Amino acid sequence: MARTKKANDEVATDSDSLKLKVAKQAAKLVKDEMVVGLGSGSTANLFIQELGKRVVEEELYIYGVPTSFDSRMMASNSGIPLISLDQCGEIDIAIDGADEVCKKTLSLIKGGGGCHTMEKIVDYHAKEFVVLADEGKLVESLGDKTAVPLEVIPFAYSTVLNKLLDMNTAPAIRSGSGKMGPVITDNGNMIIDVFINIGDAEETETMLNNIPGVLENGIFSKCDKVLVGTSKKVEILKK
Ligand code: A5P
Repeated sequence: MARTKKANDEVATDSDSLKLKVAKQAAKLVKDEMVVGLGSGSTANLFIQELGKRVVEEELYIYGVPTSFDSRMMASNSGIPLISLDQCGEIDIAIDGADEVCKKTLSLIKGGGGCHTMEKIVDYHAKEFVVLADEGKLVESLGDKTAVPLEVIPFAYSTVLNKLLDMNTAPAIRSGSGKMGPVITDNGNMIIDVFINIGDAEETETMLNNIPGVLENGIFSKCDKVLVGTSKKVEILKK
């Protein structure tokens, strides 16, 4: 028992240090006067903290566009001035985490935290979309290890589930750890997680969004660059 716990702790610490490594490097990509999309999740939170240090120490003049309530709070607490999507015009760079990254195509699965709808709006709108990952998130083909999250309007949960069952998948409504009932997103919706065979990421992304009641799914078929934290260095993957 003690050995298992120690092994788990070591893995967690390792992954955390890789996340911090990429977060520090990503913070250096931001230049004065940029509007920056601020991703969500533990890696993005580290990035936001590192960027906040630059804002305070170097008097970097930037605005952040948050992708969740969580990233908004993290940015406010880190000293990053915020601007809303409707006021910012262009977003120069968006920096976000991912749950799974395909090495070959740089397509992603996101939404482990249920924030993928706002993340996709901000990330796809940015002139440059940069992803932060540790090497454990790289896969040969997308969907190997991770279910695709769908943000679903509650009214439609049963019809979406039935549609997914018709497609021979095994969908599951995401429930809160230790809490009764489903996880509710920042937009007041539910999450359905589904393992699905993803051939062409863009086609599957479009197909899932065509199910009535699905607001957005967690397949991100495009990004510009991935910073991958490895034990030796931060590798940069580009198309
Ligand atoms: C949030 O909904 C997600 O898209 C996160 O970006 C993703 O789950 C990665 O999270 P971690 O950085 O915590 O692994």
